[in-house]
Amino acid sequence: MKEKLEAIKQAAVEAVKKAISEKEIEDLRVLYLGKKGELTAILKQMGGLSPEERPKMGQLVNDAKSYVEELVLKKKEELKAKATELKLKAETIDITMPAKTRETGKLHPLNTVLDDMIDIFQSMGFDVLDGPEVETDHYNFECLNVPADHPARDMQDTFYLGENLILRTQTSAAQVRTMETRKPPIRIICPGRVFRADEVDATHSPVFHQIEGLVVDKGITMCDLKGVLEQFAREIYGPETKVKFRPSFFPFTEPSVEVDVTCSECGGKGCRVCKGSGWIEILGAGMVHPNVLRMCGIDPDVYSGFAFGIGLDRLTTTRYKISDIRLLFENDKRFLEQF
Ligand code: DAH
Repeated sequence: MKEKLEAIKQAAVEAVKKAISEKEIEDLRVLYLGKKGELTAILKQMGGLSPEERPKMGQLVNDAKSYVEELVLKKKEELKAKATELKLKAETIDITMPAKTRETGKLHPLNTVLDDMIDIFQSMGFDVLDGPEVETDHYNFECLNVPADHPARDMQDTFYLGENLILRTQTSAAQVRTMETRKPPIRIICPGRVFRADEVDATHSPVFHQIEGLVVDKGITMCDLKGVLEQFAREIYGPETKVKFRPSFFPFTEPSVEVDVTCSECGGKGCRVCKGSGWIEILGAGMVHPNVLRMCGIDPDVYSGFAFGIGLDRLTTTRYKISDIRLLFENDKRFLEQF
């Protein structure tokens, strides 16, 4: 019996040593120490022993039981600690790992330049207005002194949406809307998108941007026009910028001018950007035609005014040395991230 006990004890010790999970250990505990376990069972066989041997044997079995019990307990704790350690290891956060970066949006270069322009004109007392992109013939042409069949309509290839509805070809339509609703003194700019059925190339897009300006008051002269536009050009391009007024034609102004500034790339010497001329055209302007004032309900004998239309896209491409206007509209992130 003694040998049997020893054998069971040894088997239990070996098994406990080898166990690798808490469940396995629990199973072993039941197998050897449980009510029907092997070590318990041996106690029941003691009936066949002599009265003197019984307590000795009982003592031996109990010793073996507590020995195994202690072993099981120890192993259980060991495995538990190991499991916790593994769990903690799996959950550790490596604070040296690079963080996920969150992309932040930026202003589109067109908006940056537009914001600058708005600042400049607001500091000169201009209000900023908005106008509809879908216009009627009346506002886009008729009241700007461009009646139907007028040859000047050929200057702007128009997208027609219906008989009378068009996509505005110029922000000048805002002039008419303003004069119809406001009384002089008027001093406004109206930035916005304009549309023309142009062939797309490096300098032409069917969608582009203009900023219309309009000033109407008593005694406004060409000097006011020159002063405002020179101030604007110097603030946008720098104080050394020279401004040149060339006679031109627009149906809604008389006299009309086109305005060039010294090329910001070469400073006026002539380069690729200005096609060797040293100058870059940035806007059209003029004194508001008396017909336009009259059609908008303003008496040209009392009031006079000037107007201008600035190309925002050209201003942006020259400022940032962008070689192709299409880049402004493709929304390629690699391009936009550079600003
Ligand atoms: N609307 C003209 C264009 O698109 C630009 C322009 C010229 C606007 C003269 C004006 C102006 O207000 O007075 O070419």
